[in-house]
Amino acid sequence: MFLQIKDLHKNFWTRQGELVVLKNITMDIHQGEFVCALGASGSGKSTLLRQIAGLDQPTSGEVRIEGRRIVGPGPDRGMVFQHYTLYPWMNVQANTEFGLKLQGVPRQVRREQASYYLSVVGLTQFARALPRELSGGMKQRVAIARALASEPKILLMDEPFGALDVHTKEAMHEFMLDLWQRTKITVFMITHDVEEAVFLSGRIYALGSRPGTIRKEMVINLPHRDHTVKRQAIFHDYRDELMDLMRKHGQEALAAVA
Ligand SMILES: Nc1ncnc2c1ncn2[C@@H]1O[C@H](COP(=O)(O)OP(=O)(O)OP(=O)(O)O)[C@@H](O)[C@H]1O
Ligand SMILES: [Mg+2]
Repeated sequence: MFLQIKDLHKNFWTRQGELVVLKNITMDIHQGEFVCALGASGSGKSTLLRQIAGLDQPTSGEVRIEGRRIVGPGPDRGMVFQHYTLYPWMNVQANTEFGLKLQGVPRQVRREQASYYLSVVGLTQFARALPRELSGGMKQRVAIARALASEPKILLMDEPFGALDVHTKEAMHEFMLDLWQRTKITVFMITHDVEEAVFLSGRIYALGSRPGTIRKEMVINLPHRDHTVKRQAIFHDYRDELMDLMRKHGQEALAAVA
């Protein structure tokens, strides 16, 4: 097993008392898979990703990568966040090299590695541009190149396309699938967007809210993955089943706080 999350629980202490955010989370992700965790706002998705990234520790349970227990951040995991996290004063090349610089990688090596991944995301010509000169989709491609530049074993993505308009988002979906096929990297992405999850992943964990628990694990078997598949009945079937599930969770969550 490549990424293993075993009986993970996460509680926070708040002024209102103990808040159970994640409960009984067990997930197994194989090498080369593209897996999405799907959940409404507040279902604990970012909290889950932070435990995998090693930015925070679970209350109980554990996360393992290739059998090794995670106790902190490491270059084996590349992170991409929803909001643009590029440094505005650094050009695209410097932003892409930044993680490597922190790891103490020599200048020449980090230059070559960053240039390679900028070419992978199709931004070689923008290496000297500043983030403000880029569109939202391009900024996210730089963030992806930066995450890939450290050659992580897994890419962890927290709603990476959430801030993009529908057309850019669609283009980024096709870009992401192409990138995944070319690099064969393992991807664990979290999203609240049902269509995005169905289109991109081979498998989906649907989370319920308060506390965040796994309500359903669904294998997605699409005949092909390009935008035309979104018009096919099989795509609609997956989407509708997940939408119904999320609607039901939403109603339950509202009833619980009423
Ligand atoms: N450090 C913290 N201290 C207290 N409560 C927290 C903390 N971090 C998260 N929470 C709570 O945990 C719950 C889940 O938050 P989280 O950010 O993981 O949700 P999410 O699914 O990522 O939501 P969104 O889709 O809006 O990003 C929320 O109720 C939030 O208030
Ligand atoms: Mg979040």
